[in-house]
Amino acid sequence: MNLQKKISLLGATGSIGDSTLSVIREHPDLFQVISLTCYSSVEKLCELVREFKPQKVCVHSMNEARHVREAFPELEVHSGPEGLIRVAEDPETETLVAGIVGSAGLFPTYAAVSSGKNVALANKEPLVMAGRLFLEEASKTGANILPTDSEHNAIFQVLDGRSQKNIKKLVLTASGGPFRDLPLEQFSQIRLEDSLRHPNWKMGNKITIDSATMMNKGLEVIEARWLFEMPVENIEVIVHRESIVHSMVEFSDGSILAQLGLPDMRIPISYCLGWPERLELDLPQLDLTQVGSLNFSKVESERYPCLDLAIEAARLDRSVPAVLNGANEAVVESYLIGHLRFVDIANLLETVMSGFYSLYQKPDCPEYLKNIHSLEDAVRADQWGRDEAQRLLLKRDAA
Ligand SMILES: NC(=O)c1ccc[n+]([C@@H]2O[C@H](COP(=O)([O-])OP(=O)(O)OC[C@H]3O[C@@H](n4cnc5c(N)ncnc54)[C@H](OP(=O)(O)O)[C@@H]3O)[C@@H](O)[C@H]2O)c1
Repeated sequence: MNLQKKISLLGATGSIGDSTLSVIREHPDLFQVISLTCYSSVEKLCELVREFKPQKVCVHSMNEARHVREAFPELEVHSGPEGLIRVAEDPETETLVAGIVGSAGLFPTYAAVSSGKNVALANKEPLVMAGRLFLEEASKTGANILPTDSEHNAIFQVLDGRSQKNIKKLVLTASGGPFRDLPLEQFSQIRLEDSLRHPNWKMGNKITIDSATMMNKGLEVIEARWLFEMPVENIEVIVHRESIVHSMVEFSDGSILAQLGLPDMRIPISYCLGWPERLELDLPQLDLTQVGSLNFSKVESERYPCLDLAIEAARLDRSVPAVLNGANEAVVESYLIGHLRFVDIANLLETVMSGFYSLYQKPDCPEYLKNIHSLEDAVRADQWGRDEAQRLLLKRDAA
């Protein structure tokens, strides 16, 4: 009898994909890879097919699918958003790792939840866009959403099935990113390559920029609000520059429990892959005597205006997080191709959100910008934020 856990991996060619496959590589006896997906990194995907021998893959376009089929005639090859959903809902898969970046993960991740799987959720944007729908669906289907983002995974490990009724607050730690010590007057000179150099973590480009602005931490507040069903007011963000304490839970008696570890995504990923068991991992030892001291400080709001934008969106809930998510993805995409200065990211997002808030007050505000009743509403709200950001970007270019 094959006792290997059957894993599918959305976003196999990215940073989460690399870390996941590294854990699986260490435990070939425990895991079987069923499906792998990518967007356009087809050569890398083909190398992974040779090594992990999945049954199915999904690539972005039909052309790329043809190319893969020619190389691997036995392989089931899907393409496009429909293909991702087919892979995600495949009954053969027990645990799906959601490692696509951004809103593109929304439908496939939801499909995995709808089919009752264990979903190791690294891709936070779907939960930001439509958290309530994910929770409702998981409670109907019995899917387990396993928090894989390091902060949420830390809380997941701390709670370890404990009752949540005695929790006073969740404390999410943030490294502060590459500009935590940069004098504010130098922010206008930040270069793209500097913002892609995270002091502690090696990640994909979008999340690295989100970490530098701390939009990432704001998205994590929204994610935590859903994963742990916690009011936003009971979620605190503090700066912890060493990224050793990944997050903490404060209980009603004043006790604080934390999870500590090296800043390496293989740790939270292995916890989710092995769950409910813990796996062995061949990693360097965390030597706290070498680390010496652990520092914690308050977040300086003027350094991280995007964090406040996201916390406000979390408080207002409904369609606001989806609008902010779409706007942020569009602005970060533009920043990554060198069209903007770092400081423009927050300025543009503030303009999009203030335009949105004035429309929100009006009687003719479309219903999808008021409430998210379906995934399609979440996509439309996200698209509104994206379009509005793009309109402002074009206006700037024309000026
Ligand atoms: N990296 C981390 O350490 C980390 C930590 C916590 C949470 N997360 C979250 O995990 C998610 C993935 O982050 P990452 O850093 O791994 O990103 P990444 O390195 O940029 O990888 C993204 C993956 O998604 C695929 N992809 C991109 N756009 C797609 C689309 N439209 N349709 C289908 N697939 C698409 C990419 O394929 P191609 O290679 O073909 O482009 C790649 O496999 C994000 O939501 C991030 O916030 C990441």
